Amino acid sequence: MAAHPALDAQGRWWNVGIRFGRRCEYLLVSADRSGERRVKASIGCERPGYLHAFALGARHAVIWECAWRAHPLRFLFAGESYARHFDWLPEQGSRLHAVDLADGSVRSWEAPALFAFHAVQAYEQGNDIVLDLCVDAAPVVEELGIERLRAGVPAAATRARHVRFVLAAGQSAAREETLPGRFELPQVNTRRALAGPVRHVWAASAADPAEGGAFFDRTVKFDHASGRLSEHVFEGAVALEPLFVPRPGASAEDDGVLLVHTLADDDAGSVVRVLDAATLQERAAVELPCVVPFGFHGAWVGS
Ligand SMILES: [Fe+2]
Repeated sequence: MAAHPALDAQGRWWNVGIRFGRRCEYLLVSADRSGERRVKASIGCERPGYLHAFALGARHAVIWECAWRAHPLRFLFAGESYARHFDWLPEQGSRLHAVDLADGSVRSWEAPALFAFHAVQAYEQGNDIVLDLCVDAAPVVEELGIERLRAGVPAAATRARHVRFVLAAGQSAAREETLPGRFELPQVNTRRALAGPVRHVWAASAADPAEGGAFFDRTVKFDHASGRLSEHVFEGAVALEPLFVPRPGASAEDDGVLLVHTLADDDAGSVVRVLDAATLQERAAVELPCVVPFGFHGAWVGS
């Protein structure tokens, strides 16, 4: 199963899994509050791509096939680390699939070979579907090796491209557009995203490698309406995913705070920074009594 399940507006749980076999399948799975899971759609393929997440819109789930493709038999026999079971096969390109949540029907589009961990959003635009992704041109998993990171070698994954794919009805290929900003670990106001396109995107990023950027050290915000890209830099610290928490009763999409897990070399413990989601100004810093290992993603649970 992908690492990022999603809830729809009715509170149903959705995720995408891969079933390995002579012929492999992507499975879109849903579950209601009883916990009973149902397979909503199956998409066959010879070698499924690395799967980390999918995108959930109001009426469609969008699944992208990374061109970093699994070798199913290696999972059975190789006994190596997870990443050694994939091959980068750019010549086959990637496919983007949109599954209708109501009837499970699938439409597919061709796309250039891509590697992507996370979607920013997906939404319907008439009969077309729009998918925004954080895209890398090749698998960046090797760049996240601990030895390289300790040596300060820049990781391109921290500055993935912000790319829009328009899946137009009646077309066989997706139309690609480059959007402003380079970042990863994107966050949006998820309730707004289930109803249509969002205006605000928050994410983690790094300085340009030419300026010494190596790993996540900043929170960025992109405003689709104004085209404005802003950032808050945490000097000397690593800063991961900005987790958006809406203000109870808020009407503006960006009315709330961002929780950002940070750690600097001389910190006694991890620090949770609380930023104003609208301005990116720091409102508070919560010092934790210990170092919390980075897990990339935060989790916030309402009481
Ligand atoms: Fe993730």
